[in-house]
Amino acid sequence: MRNTNVKPAEGRLGIMIVGNGAVATTFMTGVLMARRGLGKPVGSMTQYDKIRVGRGDDKKYIKYSEIVPLASLDDIVFGCWDVYPQNAYQSAVYAEVLKREDIDTVRDELEQIVPMKAAFDHNYAKRLDGDNIKRPSQNGGNQIPTRWEMVEMLREDIRQFKAEKQCARVVVLWAASTEIYVPVDEQTHYSLEALEQAMKNDDREHVAPSMCYAYAALTEGCPFIMGAPNTTVDIPAMWQLAEQTRQPIAGKDFKTGQTLVKSGFAPIIGTRCLGLDGWFSTNILGNRDGLVLDEPENFRTKEVSKLSTLETILKADAQPDLYTDYYHKVRINYYPPRNDNKESWDNIDIFGWLGYPMQIKINFLCRDSILAAPVCLDLCLLSDLAARAGRYGTQRWLSFFLKSPMHDYTSGEEAVNNLYQQHTMLKNAIREMGGYEADEEMD
Ligand SMILES: NC(=O)c1ccc[n+]([C@@H]2O[C@H](COP(=O)([O-])OP(=O)(O)OC[C@H]3O[C@@H](n4cnc5c(N)ncnc54)[C@H](O)[C@@H]3O)[C@@H](O)[C@H]2O)c1
Repeated sequence: MRNTNVKPAEGRLGIMIVGNGAVATTFMTGVLMARRGLGKPVGSMTQYDKIRVGRGDDKKYIKYSEIVPLASLDDIVFGCWDVYPQNAYQSAVYAEVLKREDIDTVRDELEQIVPMKAAFDHNYAKRLDGDNIKRPSQNGGNQIPTRWEMVEMLREDIRQFKAEKQCARVVVLWAASTEIYVPVDEQTHYSLEALEQAMKNDDREHVAPSMCYAYAALTEGCPFIMGAPNTTVDIPAMWQLAEQTRQPIAGKDFKTGQTLVKSGFAPIIGTRCLGLDGWFSTNILGNRDGLVLDEPENFRTKEVSKLSTLETILKADAQPDLYTDYYHKVRINYYPPRNDNKESWDNIDIFGWLGYPMQIKINFLCRDSILAAPVCLDLCLLSDLAARAGRYGTQRWLSFFLKSPMHDYTSGEEAVNNLYQQHTMLKNAIREMGGYEADEEMD
């Protein structure tokens, strides 16, 4: 008899999304269409992937939902916050990711999803000018609330949403713009007490609005997922809060186009012991995400996230002849005509036998939000699963979906970036939660 201690997925699952932009509306429209049988959730591991359980003659390949209790798409209820007041239908049309004829099939449901006022600080995303933002309750002026007031208002939003929509559980997902780079500051970010004090002191330099969303979610008993490269939950103070509230956290930055390719392709070079001289990655992108990332301070956040992928796959200390001092560069160029249809180019300079040079070129014409939507679904369903399984704190097994997986950098832990190792971690976690043996060694 299998021994699983996961609580059943009973009742409605609220998914509250920070941001109502291209990714969020593509995700929501897809889920609403899929559950009416109007489209297929292609790319979603929770809906398609099959895992081997058992060995030898007993082995079988079954879906995640046959191993662990997952929330059904029918039980999902969406809510969101955004700086702009347009409802999810209007926003999906504006984003121009999906065809109007697809969006229109679930227009009635999308129109019901109206963004709550955002906890927003213009200094964190200067290119955004919407005014659907929270104001201080006192004083009625044009200012923004203090960071602590933001937390309190967001907590109230979550409580109200949960009660109104009669949700049994809520997950909070950040699919909002990339904020400016907030370097980890030991004084503020290393203890929960210091972070709370900084929020109360309205320290706007070290406390990003995204931290207020995460703090509110965790204290309201909701898992929090960071889909952008923001520092937010990637700090010891938030790890402590997640432990204290016994909630899962996952981040950061959805792994979709170029980095998905990189984390899948770099192992080819490493596995065959070929050398690397340089890897140049560039992108053109024309949506609002691209516009925000055109601001150097916001791009810096993305750059740090994108650069971290190779270092842990092709390591100089393990193979000094092959991976010492390779040049790794990542660029994102805002180019409006392409909108959400991002194009990326990778030029990889490798070397082989006796050091002879070779080149590989990869040109990926992807659709950014089409790749991100299934990742959103999987991260939400699996974080909800983790909470019901009593797995709290950083969810390393969700690294598969993330560009810059969280890890305890204070103790020198390295993130796992190799896509295949990440897949093994994912499968093993599902097996364990389902009461099966986790039986693949991580090499
Ligand atoms: N699409 C991908 O493949 C992909 C991959 C990795 C990460 N991401 C990240 O996902 C995020 C969303 O991407 P997108 O293409 O949907 O962008 P988008 O610009 O279309 O949508 C983001 C929305 O967030 C809103 N917003 C900004 N700050 C907010 C705040 N404080 N509170 C509430 N709302 C806020 C904006 O008004 C905007 O509508 C970005 O950070 C992007 O970098 C996307």
